[in-house]
Amino acid sequence: MPEILQVNNLETQFFTEGGLVKAVDGVSYHIDEQEIVGLVGESGCGKSVSQLSVMQLVSTPGKIVGGEIIFDGQNLLELEANGPEMRSIRGAKIAMIFQEPMTSLNPVLTIGRQLTETLELHMGLNKSASREKAIEALRDVGIPSAESRIDDYPHHFSGGMRQRVMIAMGLSCNPKILIADEPTTALDVTTQAQLLELMKDMVEQYHASLVIVTHNLGVVARYAQRIYIMYAGRIVEAGTTKDIFADPRHPYTIGLLKCIPRLDEERGRKLVPIVGLPPNLINMQPTCAFSPRCSYKSEKCLKEPWPPLTHLGNEHYVGCFNE
Ligand SMILES: Nc1ncnc2c1ncn2[C@@H]1O[C@H](COP(=O)(O)OP(=O)(O)O)[C@@H](O)[C@H]1O
Ligand SMILES: [Mg+2]
Repeated sequence: MPEILQVNNLETQFFTEGGLVKAVDGVSYHIDEQEIVGLVGESGCGKSVSQLSVMQLVSTPGKIVGGEIIFDGQNLLELEANGPEMRSIRGAKIAMIFQEPMTSLNPVLTIGRQLTETLELHMGLNKSASREKAIEALRDVGIPSAESRIDDYPHHFSGGMRQRVMIAMGLSCNPKILIADEPTTALDVTTQAQLLELMKDMVEQYHASLVIVTHNLGVVARYAQRIYIMYAGRIVEAGTTKDIFADPRHPYTIGLLKCIPRLDEERGRKLVPIVGLPPNLINMQPTCAFSPRCSYKSEKCLKEPWPPLTHLGNEHYVGCFNE
């Protein structure tokens, strides 16, 4: 499939009182049409900021300072963040759902109003047509009695059901890309699995691409075709899901794999957390940010700027001197 999104050398920074935070530090990646991609890394590594950059939703003191975001052949960074073109893309052609639906759903509006608002705005539907479409969208994501529940408020729904509403809302305008930022993190394991399954089915049905953003490599294993591993504002390894699971090359990826519980192995295998904590991204050194936690590090890692990605073959890339 051809590419729907190509991000080149994206840099997004926060100018804080404490110093410069390079939240996204020269990130390049692509997504093919109808592809499911995983973006994985521990908390604070820049996953959300990189995706908010694509939507041009980075808030002050943050700023996109470099790079290109080519969507459907057009560099979104040439468009004004609040201009009409970007507004017709954001929420419609590229939609995003977040970890906590209560923060993105308006508590004082019915579910129906929130869905029809988007449909009227982006699809130009009239009141009754958009209500019909909204009911259909809620039915599609498995909300029982959609024709009456549409008049409920967000707090009448459980966490899992609210996330279903968010999926319906995200897909209501037929986006090319749905970005799901830790969509299931706050939910129990069973609901998590149901929602991932639902998202997979829905993007298939809508012929959309899906970006699953998560700190848990296990979450994307079943769904993503390709995976990007992120650390301290950079992509440190990229590959097909098979590459990442069968032949991980970056010590960080290897570390992440060791903390996933697996069903196919004998019980009692120890889950090994990665020692240490992810770095605070304020005023970072130019050397590899993973080296303080890395058991494979060499002299070079402590002296030279961290290495760019090397191509290992096929779609597999890694940024490490010692891979
Ligand atoms: N509004 C902000 N002001 C200052 N720093 C921020 C802001 N938002 C995010 N950051 C910093 O950017 C980095 C990446 O954050 P984020 O993308 O939210 O991480 P992730 O989604 O991977 O957990 C973090 O170090 C965070 O502290
Ligand atoms: Mg995040």
